[in-house]
Amino acid sequence: MALSPRLSPQLSVVVAAVRKAGKRLLRDFGEVEQLQVSVKGPSDFVSSADLRAEETLRQELSRARPNFAFLMEESGASGDDDWEHRWVVDPLDGTTNFLHGIPHWAISVGVERRMAPDRTELVAGVVYNPASDELFWAERGMGAFLNDRRLRVSARKELRDAVFATGIPFAGTPGKAEFSQVLARVMPQVAGVRRFGSAALDLAWTAAGRYDGYWELSLKPWDIAAGLVILREAGGFAADPEGGDPYAAGSVVCGNQVLQPKLRELVAEGVAYARRHQTRGEARPEAPSGGTPAGSDTPAA
Ligand code: IPD
Ligand code: CA
Ligand code: CA
Repeated sequence: MALSPRLSPQLSVVVAAVRKAGKRLLRDFGEVEQLQVSVKGPSDFVSSADLRAEETLRQELSRARPNFAFLMEESGASGDDDWEHRWVVDPLDGTTNFLHGIPHWAISVGVERRMAPDRTELVAGVVYNPASDELFWAERGMGAFLNDRRLRVSARKELRDAVFATGIPFAGTPGKAEFSQVLARVMPQVAGVRRFGSAALDLAWTAAGRYDGYWELSLKPWDIAAGLVILREAGGFAADPEGGDPYAAGSVVCGNQVLQPKLRELVAEGVAYARRHQTRGEARPEAPSGGTPAGSDTPAA
């Protein structure tokens, strides 16, 4: 699909890299569907597909921009310590979907720029789902796009009309008590909650107005670097539950100007409740039915 002429030289480099890595991943995805029925299952195969995609991205990106550093999910940080720009890369976001033959996964590449020794900002991002050939991209100050179409977050204003995405902690990850408390507050107030399994696409789909918002705690920089730029350039707002920088915190609550603060309040209440109760033992499992007043220890009956 032809992209708009607004694609800068820098983004052209990223788009070429994700398309190359995506082509190979898509072939591997076809194999995975075959491997579902084998006794051993496709896990080892998927790990090597993931590593191969990361290597392709590294080669393509470093060839075009040799001075940029890297932060990659599989191989960590590399390059100069005093980098001016770095690529923040998740070669395969939505691994569980990929492994199960579910065509909802993406390559995510963000660009981070150092403004001062202790301050950086996200300046560009690409999230590409090869299975649907949807390429979400944005550059700071230039707007956000899906292929050649301009993106805008949804215009809904009421929680009762809103569909939110989230991420559910899985085996071996923290935050189950917080998640349960937040969900118990959000669920009764909204039209729907979805868990599709790719943080990068959750942000991109919120930018596209498909979701009215998205929240998830305990994420990594490569899950969200690109998606945050796309979301903000589509007119969205993002913060951590306490209102701070979501990239630094690794926790995101986002949506449009009206719904994001409402969602953030619910998330903050749930998290605070779980943490208060965790210090005295595991958070109580019961769900508040009509939301809990901020600062209250007792869920509304
Ligand atoms: C995961 C996905 C998932 C989110 C997890 C991430 P991975 O990334 O983004 O939606 O809930 O927190 O770790 O492991 O598929 O790259
Ligand atoms: Ca990820
Ligand atoms: Ca990954």
